[in-house]
Amino acid sequence: MDVGTVVLTGAATGIGRRAAVALARAGQHVVVVTRSDARAAGVLGEATAAGRFGARVTSVPADLADLGQVRRAIDEIAELGPVRAVINNAAILAIARRRPRRTVDGIEEVFAVNHVAPFVLTTGLRPHFAAHPRVVTAGSKGLAALPWLRLDPDDVDSSRRWSPVRAYYRSKIAQLAFTAELIRRGVAAAALRIPSVRLDDERVATYPPLLRLGYRPKLRLAADPRAVAARYAALVTDESPTTGHVDERGRPLRWPNRTDDPELGGWLWDRTAQMAGQR
Ligand SMILES: NC(=O)c1ccc[n+]([C@@H]2O[C@H](COP(=O)([O-])OP(=O)(O)OC[C@H]3O[C@@H](n4cnc5c(N)ncnc54)[C@H](OP(=O)(O)O)[C@@H]3O)[C@@H](O)[C@H]2O)c1
Repeated sequence: MDVGTVVLTGAATGIGRRAAVALARAGQHVVVVTRSDARAAGVLGEATAAGRFGARVTSVPADLADLGQVRRAIDEIAELGPVRAVINNAAILAIARRRPRRTVDGIEEVFAVNHVAPFVLTTGLRPHFAAHPRVVTAGSKGLAALPWLRLDPDDVDSSRRWSPVRAYYRSKIAQLAFTAELIRRGVAAAALRIPSVRLDDERVATYPPLLRLGYRPKLRLAADPRAVAARYAALVTDESPTTGHVDERGRPLRWPNRTDDPELGGWLWDRTAQMAGQR
């Protein structure tokens, strides 16, 4: 019997790559969504080698900064069978960027990749969901330092007075509000509050020299990406589903920054659909 696929974005590096391995070890059919086939090569090899109990690993390329590519990926994923889970793990922080950059769809890129693309992917896959599907999104513990931060209805993608940090955390607020809204709409969804996690060397190498230097002491204190990856895997494979905002041990947490406000969730759903050209 086809038990369905687990769709995982951002699987080329970091937590996503370890999650692909953990899911393959648990016998899942993992669909890794990465920017390109070349970006998928490493994780495909590693997860396939680790696979057990008839696991399969399939690559579907899509640059999440291009909604046309996301929609093509939805069609390809649907061909692979019913979707049992979606893990929206991919994100960008764009820490060295000075000015906002717009995607081909005209959306500020951090918001587009971190929130609009997961929205389009998840809602687009919904008609192809298996029975009892799960959705997981990546929250951030760093939000605790910004309890006052909110989305701006007049500048939803934060392109005015842009800063990489504000754009990133607002996109995380949007992801959390989307997850809470999915739950209200009957989907077993969880937002994982991710603590500071060690980045892969290839990611740190993209930082400017000063930032790289500042990041070094942080690296030593940061968590092992495999621990967070194991929680992603548990959230989609545990017999009874966990919903809500949870920490890396799966313990329930309050939603930060009023992200469980139903008014915000409903408004953001419509606004995101409009930005994505779905309304
Ligand atoms: N590390 C931390 O301390 C931390 C803390 C809080 C939350 N998080 C969250 O945890 C999640 C995983 O992060 P990580 O630590 O594993 O960082 P990472 O190694 O940078 O992983 C991010 C992944 O997203 C992919 N991605 C970015 N832009 C993309 C695009 N346009 N199209 C397709 N894929 C794209 C990247 O692909 P490429 O490699 O091709 O760029 C990469 O594989 C993210 O949601 C992040 O916000 C991390």
